[in-house]
Amino acid sequence: MKMDILLGLQWGDEGKGKVVDVLAPQYDVVARFQGGPNAGHTLEFDGIKHVLHQIPSGIFRENILNIIGNGVVLDPVILKKEIDGLKQFNIAFKKNLFVSKKATIIIPTHKLLDAAYEKSKGDKKIGSTLKGIGPTYQDKIGRVALRVGDILTDDFQERYTALVEKHKTILSFYEFDLDQLPELEKVFFEAVEFFKTLNLVDSEYEVNAYLSEGKKVLAEGAQGSLLDIDFGSYPFVTSSNTMAAGACTGLGVAPSKIGEVFGIFKAYCTRVGSGPFPTELFDGDGEAMRKEGNEFGSTTGRPRRCGWIDLPALRYSIMINGVTQLFMMKADVLNIFEEIKICTHYELPDGSRVDRLTYELNTQDAKPVYKTVPGWYTSLAEVNEYDQFPQALKDYVKLLEVELGVPIKMVSVGPDRKQTILR
Ligand code: GDP
Ligand code: IMO
Ligand code: MG
Repeated sequence: MKMDILLGLQWGDEGKGKVVDVLAPQYDVVARFQGGPNAGHTLEFDGIKHVLHQIPSGIFRENILNIIGNGVVLDPVILKKEIDGLKQFNIAFKKNLFVSKKATIIIPTHKLLDAAYEKSKGDKKIGSTLKGIGPTYQDKIGRVALRVGDILTDDFQERYTALVEKHKTILSFYEFDLDQLPELEKVFFEAVEFFKTLNLVDSEYEVNAYLSEGKKVLAEGAQGSLLDIDFGSYPFVTSSNTMAAGACTGLGVAPSKIGEVFGIFKAYCTRVGSGPFPTELFDGDGEAMRKEGNEFGSTTGRPRRCGWIDLPALRYSIMINGVTQLFMMKADVLNIFEEIKICTHYELPDGSRVDRLTYELNTQDAKPVYKTVPGWYTSLAEVNEYDQFPQALKDYVKLLEVELGVPIKMVSVGPDRKQTILR
């Protein structure tokens, strides 16, 4: 059996949590492979909205194993909070949640470093979620980080202290106030004790054993392809490989064992944090999109920047991920527009038109070139199947499919599990 991957093709918040929850009953395992609590994945069913940060989005489905893989950077404090918050739902965490011993731990000083680095950047700041993601991955690559398995060893405290001393040196360079550290550490060590009661495993063996037994595994991406450390709009990116290849390294699954790659995108675009966003709208249309789509960050509550759909960016993401099926999300948000714009190219300051996300594009003032199509300008609330779609929405789906060269197999028309239309 091969592992399928679901990932976002834009700047995150495409609706990954919703779709993983919808697809989960078809799988035996759902696994996160990168990122950490910078993610906020929203699921809605039975009138309740849940936001998951580190726990995979298969957790509400019975008899599905959820794995936090080695590629993830994990905050024990946030994990404990998430698990505590779900107590009333009687989820069998011991049985249904496994954490890789090889995942990296976010410690309190990583969060302080994140804040110090951001502050030092002034108006060039990344707009980080300040969850300590960048500094933790830095330590991982620098080969000094602490991993989940380390909490079970006798010298954990010593190694923790050594790392904190190193961080303190850096923080003193930035003249960063350490007053809050003792309280943060107290909560951290309580969470570490709780963490020891979870199922900590070498999850690459679990995932590969499941695949060998013919069981189905779904890898759940976090962030989006345009925030990938290598291919995103560097330096305005996150610190992990958010693309399909990240699922191989982040779970220990060979490339030859990858099956379907589900690429999900909004019917428009959003971005939270800094960095280039060619189709961003600064007018009433952008404001209307934000309001209609309730575009406020699931993790930080920040208003998301909104704009029209960007075909060159989507094609790029489809290319680097090898997307086999597309899912279009939040179609209902465009109900309010009589006309919809689709960015087909970018125009550079010298007047030339390009449709590639080149190295240079990042620093150039790229203006979007649009094709305008009629909107459906009607509610989708009563729509239960594809045949009931207004013709203009069918045409929009068809046009995107032709332009992107990959079939759109699912269209989402609302946040609830049930508001999901398969084609
Ligand atoms: P993720 O990070 O990719 O999981 O996405 P987020 O949960 O951060 O953001 C997506 C938001 O859109 C959430 O509030 C979802 O409840 C909501 N959502 C998902 N699909 C749809 C949809 O089809 N229509 C509408 N209106 N909202 C949706
Ligand atoms: P999900 O999984 C949207 C953005 C931040 C910032 C940049 C770097 O919910 O789609 P970081 O905290 O990683 O150092 O921030 O990346 N970012 C996200 N934007 N959705 C996310 O996750 C994000 N995770 C990080 O806003 O611009
Ligand atoms: Mg999100």
